[in-house]
Amino acid sequence: MAGNGEKLTIAVTGATGLVGSRLVAKLAAAGHKVRVLTRNTGSARAKLTYPGLEFFGPAEWARGVEGAYGVVNLAGEPIATRWTDDLKKAIKSSRVGATTAVVNAIKAAPADKRPKVLVSASAVGYYGISQTATYSEDSPSGNDYLAEVCRAWEAAALEAQSAGVRVVIARIGIVLAPEGGALGKMLPVFQIFAGGPLGSGKQWMSWIHRDDLVDLITQALTNPAYAGVYNATAPKPVRMSELCSALGNMLGRPSWLPVPEFALMTLLGEGASVVLDGQRVMPTRTQAAGYRFKYADIGDALRNLRLVSR
Ligand SMILES: NC(=O)c1ccc[n+]([C@@H]2O[C@H](COP(=O)([O-])OP(=O)(O)OC[C@H]3O[C@@H](n4cnc5c(N)ncnc54)[C@H](OP(=O)(O)O)[C@@H]3O)[C@@H](O)[C@H]2O)c1
Repeated sequence: MAGNGEKLTIAVTGATGLVGSRLVAKLAAAGHKVRVLTRNTGSARAKLTYPGLEFFGPAEWARGVEGAYGVVNLAGEPIATRWTDDLKKAIKSSRVGATTAVVNAIKAAPADKRPKVLVSASAVGYYGISQTATYSEDSPSGNDYLAEVCRAWEAAALEAQSAGVRVVIARIGIVLAPEGGALGKMLPVFQIFAGGPLGSGKQWMSWIHRDDLVDLITQALTNPAYAGVYNATAPKPVRMSELCSALGNMLGRPSWLPVPEFALMTLLGEGASVVLDGQRVMPTRTQAAGYRFKYADIGDALRNLRLVSR
C-alpha cells in the first residue's frame, strides 16, 4: 500500500473541474505533489492557487506524467448542456482524446519512470437507462449514445494496461457538490416549477457526494488491490421524486407538481436526458473492495451540502 503517510506525485487531468478541483485541494492538503495537466495553464493557475502545484499545458503532458506515481484522468467537455451535433461530437472526442493523450504519455515514459496507476473517469451512462433494472459493475453496456461514449472512453483508458499500468475505471453517478454540477443546473428549473419532480419522477438517480468520490479516487490510487471497474455511486440510489421531496423541504414548497419534460428539454435539449432518464446503479465491487461511504443517504448528503435545511 502506497498510502501510509508516503508523499506521492499525482498528475491530474480535468483538475480545474467540479471533481478535480476538490481532489487537488485534498491531495495538496495531505502533502502530495500535484501536477495539473490542463488545456490552458493560465486559467488553471488562476483557478487552482494551492502552493506547490505544477502546471503542464497540452504539449507538456508527457513531462507531467513522467515520474509521477499515479495519474487521475477527469477531463471532458461538460454534458449537462444543450446537445448540438457538434457538442455531441465534442462530448465523445474530448473524453477519448484526452484519455488517449494521457495514456500515450504514460506509455512514452521510460519503464522506471512510468506511473504505476491510472484512475480514469467514466459514467453510469455506460449501462444505458432503465426504470426497472439494477446494474452492478459486471452488467452489460446499454445501446444509447452515452453508453457508446463510455465504452470508447473506458477502452482508451484500459490501453494503459499494455504498459503494465494498473487501471481503475470509476463509473461515476451524478455528483452532488455545493457549487452545482448537474443538480445546480436543475435547481433553477425546479424553483420556477414549484419544486416538483423533473419529468415523471420515476427515473432513478444514482448519485455520489463529491467528498466520497474524491476519497474513493484517493483509495484507488494508493491501494494496489483496486483494479478494473468500480461504480462510484452511493449505495442508496433514489428515484427523482425522492430527491425532489428532499429538495422541496429546502424550498418550503410542495413536491407533488411535476416539472414538465418540455421545460427541461427547452433548457437543456437532449442534455436533459442526464436528469430525465436514469439508471439504478449499485456500487457492488466498490463496497466489496472495502470502501465505506461517508454519505450513503441522500438526506445526509443534501444536508451536508446545505442544499436542504432539515
Ligand atoms: N459531475 C458529474 O455529475 C459527473 C457524472 C458522471 C461522470 N462525470 C465525469 O467525471 C469527470 C469530472 O467531472 P466534472 O464534473 O469535474 O467535470 P467538469 O467540471 O466539467 O470539468 C472537466 C474538466 O475537463 C476539462 N475539459 C473541459 N472541456 C474539455 C474539452 N473539450 N476537452 C478536453 N478537456 C476538457 C477542463 O479542464 P481544463 O480546462 O483544465 O483542461 C474541465 O475543468 C468528467 O469526465 C465527467 O464526465 C462527472
